[in-house]
Amino acid sequence: MALAHETPEYNPSNAQLTIPEVKVGSGMVYNAKLKFDGVDNFKLLSFENTSPNIPPAGKAADVEQWLMKGIYKNWACEATKHAGRAPSPHGENRICSNPLLSASDSGTFPMGAASVKELYSGDTISGYAVGVKIIAGEGKDTWYWYERLGSSVEGDGIADKACEGCHSHAADDGKGRDRTFTRVK
Ligand code: HEC
Repeated sequence: MALAHETPEYNPSNAQLTIPEVKVGSGMVYNAKLKFDGVDNFKLLSFENTSPNIPPAGKAADVEQWLMKGIYKNWACEATKHAGRAPSPHGENRICSNPLLSASDSGTFPMGAASVKELYSGDTISGYAVGVKIIAGEGKDTWYWYERLGSSVEGDGIADKACEGCHSHAADDGKGRDRTFTRVK
């Protein structure tokens, strides 16, 4: 299973230690960077409050910027692209599940669970579809959707009508769950 960025890494060339995820009190911080000060101490340089594995839900430009970093490629991803599975309108695609979505076995997905779908035209990625669980629990308002095909934005919003109507039926065939058809483990 591809859990992204799990192992702390020390880079001797700049004396920097990067800790991908660390518990602080009851919360977590991400990408904590520390520098060895040459004596017997590490100095904290920077950290982030939100996991890089959770796409920024809410603004198309932010989602695009995040997609271009390619972080999702370290998630659990289908090995190859495939034709859309009925009733998918997505055409040829490849789906990746983030660690939170991938690890969830039952019930609704936890907050922060997310999927990225690469949309293909031939062998070229021509767009992306993204789903992010933004609040725990049931209901259409718990998912943010984003899709761009070429230069055309097909969906961008919480409970987006272009996506919700169909994804709300993901559980109908007994395979999908909580508006998600495919979970990659
Ligand atoms: C008519 C039905 C339908 C519509 C409309 C639809 N999807 Fe999907 N979607 C699917 C199906 C079926 C899959 C799973 C398999 C596939 O695509 O091959 C899927 C997969 C996905 C996935 C991967 C996670 C999963 O649920 O499997 C994402 C992310 C996604 N769609 C986003 C969107 C977005 C964003 C929109 C709106 C712009 C949208 N979809 C509209 C049917 C739909």
